[in-house]
Amino acid sequence: MTEAILLVGGKGTRLRPLTINTPKPMVPAAGVPFLTHQLARARAAGIEHIVMATSYLAEVFEPYFGDGSRLGLHLEYVTEREPLGTGGAIRNVASRLHSGPDDPVLIFNGDILTGLDIPALVAVHQSSGADVSLHLTRVEDPRAYGLVPTDDTGRVTAFLEKPQTPEEIVTDQINAGAYVFRRSVIDTIPAGRPVSVERETFPGLLSAGAHLQGMVDSTYWLDLGTPQAFVRGSADLVLGRAPSPAVPGRCGDQLVLPSARVASDAKLSEGTVIGENALIGEGSRISGSTIHAGAVIEPGAVVTDSLIGAGARVGARTILSGVVVGDGATIGADNELREGVRVWCNATLPAGAVRFSSDQ
Ligand code: GDD
Ligand code: MG
Repeated sequence: MTEAILLVGGKGTRLRPLTINTPKPMVPAAGVPFLTHQLARARAAGIEHIVMATSYLAEVFEPYFGDGSRLGLHLEYVTEREPLGTGGAIRNVASRLHSGPDDPVLIFNGDILTGLDIPALVAVHQSSGADVSLHLTRVEDPRAYGLVPTDDTGRVTAFLEKPQTPEEIVTDQINAGAYVFRRSVIDTIPAGRPVSVERETFPGLLSAGAHLQGMVDSTYWLDLGTPQAFVRGSADLVLGRAPSPAVPGRCGDQLVLPSARVASDAKLSEGTVIGENALIGEGSRISGSTIHAGAVIEPGAVVTDSLIGAGARVGARTILSGVVVGDGATIGADNELREGVRVWCNATLPAGAVRFSSDQ
């Protein structure tokens, strides 16, 4: 039985303030901590043993997921004393693996929402006889990712993490954050110091002549590293565009957790999710947004493509579009906040303080 390592130790700085109280993989998407979707998809692909490599806010994972039996999994947790980077984190959990030297071990970045056919990636690994196989996807702007050109047999020819110059942009194929490693290759990563699998291990393996195989796949794929992407991913889960067995309810325009209260004339659309004990006021319109537990949306507010943190409050008639409101923050009535605004946790904005359009 194939086992897996899940990398969940990153700081999630680009997602702040969502990641101030909560590590990125534990921020709820479609009503459950995002990681639940990855774990459920791995389980559905036949993986039973998963080791989580944790670092930042490590203490929250185990109390929530426990031994994994609720998901039909056997989960283990290994916490780094100092962050070891992606490669160091992989090496650091190696002693927990049961696989033999030639067995395939799956490794996943903990912030990817994807419809990847996991057994297909393992099959490519086995049939190509590769040392490492990588899921690749095509994106319009590859600069924020690892570029992975391949030859016409799919063999990886280079690995360029976050290219800086135009000359380095040699392909639109990027590392999609899911790998199959031959177990013995994991044991060659140096132990006890930070290692980047992208900047050190992959280029090192390539220059040593190892066989890295790419599998380009055009299934749903999203890195949830930014607030906009996170809100998009959550809505796509609710809409059923992104596949997950862990969405707590039927897919459709909206997902309202049972303890939430929504006024009968409030309009929820485009994959909006309303978290536990949240309160949605009369006449409000919420589209493509994620409202976390205990948040309050007052009457007549219009919330679009935004994320409202736990216990936050959005005042009456306030308009939010493409905004993140941190946990416990209060936006007074009659404000208008747009594109990219991040309101910090527990901050307070008085009524009528910010507008984009004129008040006429
Ligand atoms: N345990 C542990 N320790 N995990 C870590 C550490 C660490 O020191 N640093 C990062 N991680 C985890 C993160 O939690 C995340 O799940 C994963 O490793 C990747 O880190 P990110 O910080 O999200 O990297 P990225 O998004 O900039 O780039 C990576 O993902 C891209 C695809 O989304 C790279 O793998 C790129 O090559 C790739 O294209
Ligand atoms: Mg990422």
